[in-house]
Amino acid sequence: MSDFKEELKNHVEEVEAILGEFIPAQKGAYYERVIEAMRYSFFAGGKRLRPMMMLESYRMFGGKDLSVIKPYMAALEMIHTYSLIHDDLPAMDNDDYRRGRLTNHKQFDEATAILAGDGLLNLAYETVATAMVFEENPAMLNRHAMAIYVLGGKAGVLGMIGGQVVDIEAEKKTDATKEELLFIHENKTAALIQAALTVGAILAGASKDDVVKTEQIGYNVGVAFQIQDDILDKIGDEAVIGKPVGSDEKNEKTTYVSLEGIEKAQEDQKKLSEEAIEMLNKITSEDVFLKALINSLVNRDK
Ligand code: IPE
Ligand code: IPE
Ligand code: MG
Ligand code: MG
Ligand code: MG
Repeated sequence: MSDFKEELKNHVEEVEAILGEFIPAQKGAYYERVIEAMRYSFFAGGKRLRPMMMLESYRMFGGKDLSVIKPYMAALEMIHTYSLIHDDLPAMDNDDYRRGRLTNHKQFDEATAILAGDGLLNLAYETVATAMVFEENPAMLNRHAMAIYVLGGKAGVLGMIGGQVVDIEAEKKTDATKEELLFIHENKTAALIQAALTVGAILAGASKDDVVKTEQIGYNVGVAFQIQDDILDKIGDEAVIGKPVGSDEKNEKTTYVSLEGIEKAQEDQKKLSEEAIEMLNKITSEDVFLKALINSLVNRDK
C-alpha cells in the first residue's frame, strides 16, 4: 500500500470512530424502524471526505480540542447522507444502489426513506446545538454561532438544496448553459465542501481573510469533485463506485460531460484542483494532509 493510501485509511478510521459517537441506537422504541434506516445509510461506508476535510481544516488553522469539531463533523456527514437518501428517491434520481448497497427506499420503503432523511437533517442541528449548550466561553460561543450559521446556509436553499432544485429542473432541458451547470455544481456539491473547510477554519479561530480563502478553495474542490462525479457516472466501474453508472443519461441530466465531453471535463477538474492547492499553499507552506487529500481526488475512481 502506498504511503498516501495507508495514511488515508488511518484518517478514515479516525473519522468513522468520531461519527459513531453521535447516532442514537434506539432499540425497542415504536420508531425503531426510522433509526434503523438512518443508521443503514449513515454507516454504509461512504468516503467520509466532508468530515475529514473539516477536521483537517481545523487542524491546519491550529485547532487542537477535538471535542469542539467532532459534533460538526458528524452533523455535516448527517446532512450529506440525508441529501443522498433523498437524491436517490424515485421523485429525484430514482436510483437503486448507493454506497455499495440498496438505496434507502429500496431497502425500506419510500416513506421511511423520506423520514430517515428528515431525521438525519434534524439530528444534525440538534447535535451542533448541544455542543453550544455546554460551551461556557463567550468567544467560543461566537465561533459556534458563526459555524452554525454557515452550515445552515450552505446546506439550505441558498446552497445544497438550491443546487438540487436547479439540477432537477434542468433535466431533459436541451439548452442548459455552462453558467447554469456551474450554478448547479457550486450549490448541490461545492456548498457542503465549502461548509467543511470554512466551519473547520471558523472553529479554530482563523482570521476572516483565511475563512474567505477556504470558501474559495471549497468552491474549486467542490466543482472539481462534481465534474469527476459526472465523469464516473459515464465511465466509472459500478462495483468500485458503489452506485449505478449511467444514472445521469437515464435522467437526461445536463452534466459537465454532456456539455464539454470527457477530455475537457478531465482537464478542467485537474486545473480547478491545482488552483485549490496553490491557494492552500498561500495559507501554509507545510505539507499538510489536506493538500495530499485534495490532490488524490483528481484521479479518484470512486
Ligand atoms: C456523492 O458524494 C454526492 C456528490 C456530491 C457527488 P460522495 O462521492 O462524497 O459520496 P460518499 O459519501 O462517498 O458516498
Ligand atoms: C447529487 O449529485 C448531489 C447531492 C446529493 C446533493 P448526483 O445526483 O450527481 O450525486 P450521485 O451521483 O447520485 O451520488
Ligand atoms: Mg442528483
Ligand atoms: Mg444522484
Ligand atoms: Mg452523480
